[in-house]
Amino acid sequence: MPVLEKEQSTNPGINNGLPKLPVPDLQHTLDMYLKCMKHLVPEENFRRTKGIVDKFGAPGGVGEMLQQQLHKRRDSKANWVYDYWLDDMYLNNRLALPVNSSPVMVFPKQNFKTDSDALRFAAHLISAVLEYKTLLETHDLPVDFARGQLAGTPLCMEQYYKLFTSYRLPGPKKDTLVAQKSSVMPEPEHIIVACKNQFFVLDVVINFRRLNEKDLYTQLEKISKMAANEEERLPPIGLLTSEGRTEWAEARHILIKDSTNRDSLDMIERCLCLVCLNEPSGLQLTDTNRALLMLHGGGPERNGGNRWYDKPMQFVIGSDGCCGVVCEHSPFEGIVLVQCTEYLLKYMKGSPSKLVRAASVSELPAPRRLRWKCSSEIQALLAASADKLHRLAKNLDMNVHKFTKYGKEFIKRQKMSPDAYIQVALQFAYYRCHRRPVSTYESASIRRFQEGRVDNIRSATFEALSFGKAMTDGRSTFSNDEKMKILKDAINAQTNYTILAITGMGIDNHLLGLREMAMELRMEMPEIFTDETYTVSNQYILSTSQVPTTVDMFCCYGPVVPNGYGVCYNPQSDAILFCVSSFNHSDETCSNTFVKHLEECLLEMEGLCLRNSGVASS
Ligand code: COA
Repeated sequence: MPVLEKEQSTNPGINNGLPKLPVPDLQHTLDMYLKCMKHLVPEENFRRTKGIVDKFGAPGGVGEMLQQQLHKRRDSKANWVYDYWLDDMYLNNRLALPVNSSPVMVFPKQNFKTDSDALRFAAHLISAVLEYKTLLETHDLPVDFARGQLAGTPLCMEQYYKLFTSYRLPGPKKDTLVAQKSSVMPEPEHIIVACKNQFFVLDVVINFRRLNEKDLYTQLEKISKMAANEEERLPPIGLLTSEGRTEWAEARHILIKDSTNRDSLDMIERCLCLVCLNEPSGLQLTDTNRALLMLHGGGPERNGGNRWYDKPMQFVIGSDGCCGVVCEHSPFEGIVLVQCTEYLLKYMKGSPSKLVRAASVSELPAPRRLRWKCSSEIQALLAASADKLHRLAKNLDMNVHKFTKYGKEFIKRQKMSPDAYIQVALQFAYYRCHRRPVSTYESASIRRFQEGRVDNIRSATFEALSFGKAMTDGRSTFSNDEKMKILKDAINAQTNYTILAITGMGIDNHLLGLREMAMELRMEMPEIFTDETYTVSNQYILSTSQVPTTVDMFCCYGPVVPNGYGVCYNPQSDAILFCVSSFNHSDETCSNTFVKHLEECLLEMEGLCLRNSGVASS
């Protein structure tokens, strides 16, 4: 792969001025770890864990030695945890990307009257992408500043420069995030268009001229006609990218033995992004169905093969109006995806399509169809991939629910952090459903630091559990004043943890760093990391994330464990959108039930706040 290099800082200048991520104090992390886990594991397990943790953290012990090594690592790198985190979070994960890893943005349903309308929308969107790419190239993208808690500090912009230049290459044991190396080759100048499971190269610069919207439309029309030709149709090779990562790496290894396949793969791996022109799904395009269709394409029987999951940005345009973006998560976070997508949609709104209705006459060469030589071995692998994707699609249980009784303005009026309040509500709802607390992940941005990505806010606090219990098991035991105090304690605990995490003092990255350092030093793995409590601490039955938007669209993703929920929420002034996912195969979970309890819990919390402020009578 001569033109792709292992991903690294694509733009050294953009980190200027930001501090390096700190290495938290060892004892503080260990104490926090025990505090976080005490109520999540049986008492006996906890006692054992405490002994193990105390030994690890003892003066002159293994913990201190590893901590020293982390400090050295911090001195020598822009961000000491970045590589460890990237491998652990994404590249070592063998699960299929759709549903398990790739989040999606879902656009409002578009009203296309004809197939040409969908192509016009696609041409307009590609024009917006090219404008955005120019902003990136000229470094004219304004720097983001933190909002909400500890607002005002500048944020690392590194992730933006990976939107259109990265590719996740599957590997037999571990994937590689590769980046275009602009000093050797020019930046990629083509987009791959997927249509009827066929892949086409759409050059966006021809004879040193960037195609305008009209040219793009003309080229898309040609692609659409070429794809309709059944005689030319090739197998749905994109299905292979929806496989488990090891399976896809093995299939790719077979594919690249043929030079035609090698050339096709090379074109896809070096493209700017994908544009997937989808067939109508035949489903009613509710919010939930659009979310499902974006997450898995409706399986191989619909548009599931009309994708290339390794590529970070895939714009999906369905002729039935089901549109959005599918994102390979390893190069950037959802917030960056939202910022980029909002720019594109605002650009499209602000600069109406420049197309005239008549078809344009153009001298442009026809886009090239990518060819594949599929041996019987590949055909068999394709059939297996289709079967797996079919099962994955059937397994996903999704509920997109707009809670409309109130939004973040009501919560702010209670002098509470909206994010903390929503997290406490999620803990409360889970407790209502299952009568137990579970390890919870909430992503906290650490972009205040060089190359910062995220750490974890462990929202399953003891205080949140106490609130869930007081409102469920002890409904009549506690007075309203007492319940309100318990709620405030839970919100404070959550807010404090948030501040800890966003200032680089979270415990998850630190523990990961200590563990990976032990691996790197080829030491026997310290018991703290082989202990059952550590395993439990990393099984995120609730995987949550705030992804707010300012235009009409929403983000969602799947659960990260078989018996868990993925909960993406989008707080608005007077409403909160929740996208709750789980797996049908688990008899522990049900997205509808969770949403029903969540709605009730949010109403009970409102009632409590209003009673406390004297607005409602008790
Ligand atoms: N009283 C009144 N208002 C309050 C308040 C209080 N006690 N606490 C906070 N607020 C206000 C804030 O000032 C802010 O106001 P704004 O809307 O005018 O900016 C608003 O409420 C929201 O603040 P809050 O709810 O506390 O959350 P936040 O915006 O700071 O977000 C995180 C918290 C953890 C979500 C955020 O720091 C973060 O890390 N986001 C990134 C998540 C991410 O990466 N997601 C994608 C993963 S793929």
